[in-house]
Amino acid sequence: MHIDKYEKYWIYAVSATLGVFFAALMVGAVVFGVRPAVDEGFINPNRLQETRFANPGVVDLGNGEYEVNMLAVMWAFRPSQIDVPEGSTVTFYITSSDVTHGFLIEHHNANIEVLPGHVASVRVTFDEAGDYKILCHEYCGRGHAGMHATITVSEADVQTAQVEE
Ligand code: CUA
Repeated sequence: MHIDKYEKYWIYAVSATLGVFFAALMVGAVVFGVRPAVDEGFINPNRLQETRFANPGVVDLGNGEYEVNMLAVMWAFRPSQIDVPEGSTVTFYITSSDVTHGFLIEHHNANIEVLPGHVASVRVTFDEAGDYKILCHEYCGRGHAGMHATITVSEADVQTAQVEE
């Protein structure tokens, strides 16, 4: 079968491009541990009072495990402040009560498109003390730019000291 010289070049170029994309995917998955958010199913956004989102907040499950039921609304996250000690693993369950929002935790592997009627979850371990912003990164209206929350990760020994008081 004869393949034209230029067609061959294009086949090489396309193959190389796909190879680069595949390599980038593998580097993300293997080196950086990027995982898509987990789909936790559907929910009626008009009846959130009957769900885990009735009282958004942090639940301490013990052994350094936490659960956060988080609601994205125009234009805030509830809760807007989360405090956990260093080394905690937090599972965020998140939904929206109105429009599409974003959920991104800076310096961590969490990036979700938050859709009304859907629940997504993501598990994040906080190994270093500090303040980390949760940002809405989907344009959601007038107050989008101000839509954020903060995760404060305290040093483990500080936390122990507080418990002992
Ligand atoms: Cu919520 Cu942008």
